[in-house]
Amino acid sequence: MEAFAKDFSHGRDRVNADRLRIAVVGAGSRGAGMAETLQASPDWDLAAICDVDSRRAGTVSEKLGGAPWFEAIDELLDSVEVDAVAIATPLRALFGTGMTALRAGKHVLVEQPLADSLERGQEMAAEADARGVVLMANKAQCFEPAVQKMQKLVGSGSLGDILFVEAVRTESNLARTDRDVFWDLAPDSLALLDYVFAGRLNPQGVSALGGDPLGTGRDCVGHVIFRLPNDATVHLHVNNLSRVKSHQLVIAGSQLVLVWDATLPQEQLAIFDSDSSTQQRRRSPYWTEPGALQVPGEDGQVPAFGQEARDRVAAEFARRVRGHQRAPSTNTSGLRVLGMLEAVSRSRGLEGQASSIHVPGPEDYQQQAAGSWLESVLWSR
Ligand SMILES: NC(=O)c1ccc[n+]([C@@H]2O[C@H](COP(=O)([O-])OP(=O)(O)OC[C@H]3O[C@@H](n4cnc5c(N)ncnc54)[C@H](O)[C@@H]3O)[C@@H](O)[C@H]2O)c1
Repeated sequence: MEAFAKDFSHGRDRVNADRLRIAVVGAGSRGAGMAETLQASPDWDLAAICDVDSRRAGTVSEKLGGAPWFEAIDELLDSVEVDAVAIATPLRALFGTGMTALRAGKHVLVEQPLADSLERGQEMAAEADARGVVLMANKAQCFEPAVQKMQKLVGSGSLGDILFVEAVRTESNLARTDRDVFWDLAPDSLALLDYVFAGRLNPQGVSALGGDPLGTGRDCVGHVIFRLPNDATVHLHVNNLSRVKSHQLVIAGSQLVLVWDATLPQEQLAIFDSDSSTQQRRRSPYWTEPGALQVPGEDGQVPAFGQEARDRVAAEFARRVRGHQRAPSTNTSGLRVLGMLEAVSRSRGLEGQASSIHVPGPEDYQQQAAGSWLESVLWSR
């Protein structure tokens, strides 16, 4: 800690009283991005940074205006007054850092997944409930207009019967040291699916197979099949050895087919008629909705992909904290993602044998959206 000059000039008296104070724990790629978003947010003051790797903490602090930095969360909480903590540590440290913050009465925003097991996620959710604080799992993609449109179309029944779903999430990171490809990349797709189906995906069972062709000790490539009640399937492909970054979803219904691609900022969502004889591409009212497209601003710059959604996560977290309301992405979506991930791991351990899934129900979805700015986006027709 010698490198850290104990300058707490980010104290409450020096900041806009309307802003909430937040610390970011874990200053890796994700934490640095979170810190930048929160720093730029009109709702938050970035009050401190924490990373066991002091170099990383110091670098992020320096880049973002010199917030005090720490190597341990306990030290941070003893030294700086904050309302909330945003956590982007590796999987193994999520529970420890999350529970430390919750027990100190802080609101907590966690990168997906919420924890490294369903039981630990449930323990965190129970702690948050007991303390009356917000626990929210980040899933910025659900704040994208195209994703919200998909949820609306699925919820309205416009797709007809669901025939199949294909999801792809790939990266070129090579192998992670602390998690296999299922726990690394599947949370993004599972959170997306859970959101689009508003918690009603209701998979009956899962089969998972993986491969570790480089001998890293963990699966780097994985295939997951979820079986839905009407014998439709969801196929999820996750791959850390790909040379391309991708995040795609195809939802095929008997009436409409939705094709979503996160890497196409100008046209994330395409909507097709299912009747293959017409090859008809729909020009839906979606395209005329304000904010549906990433259009250049007055300065001619197109906003960085996903940045708007990340800003909305920061705003929504602040709104929930101010109202001390349960967060839409945790109770119970974050827990459902953990339940699905655990079932995937069980099946993988059994070389792809089907494993049953036990996840909390979708009952919170409507309740969570009610009264929020999401309400008009999600539930209006
Ligand atoms: N990078 C992504 O694209 C991505 C996407 C979705 C979710 N996530 C999740 O976000 C989290 C972080 O991902 P990342 O890619 O930034 O990882 P990373 O390894 O780059 O960074 C994690 C940082 O946490 C620090 N750390 C470890 N234990 C700590 C502790 N106890 N206290 C404080 N700091 C600690 C590490 O030193 C490291 O700097 C992971 O849980 C991951 O699953 C990442």
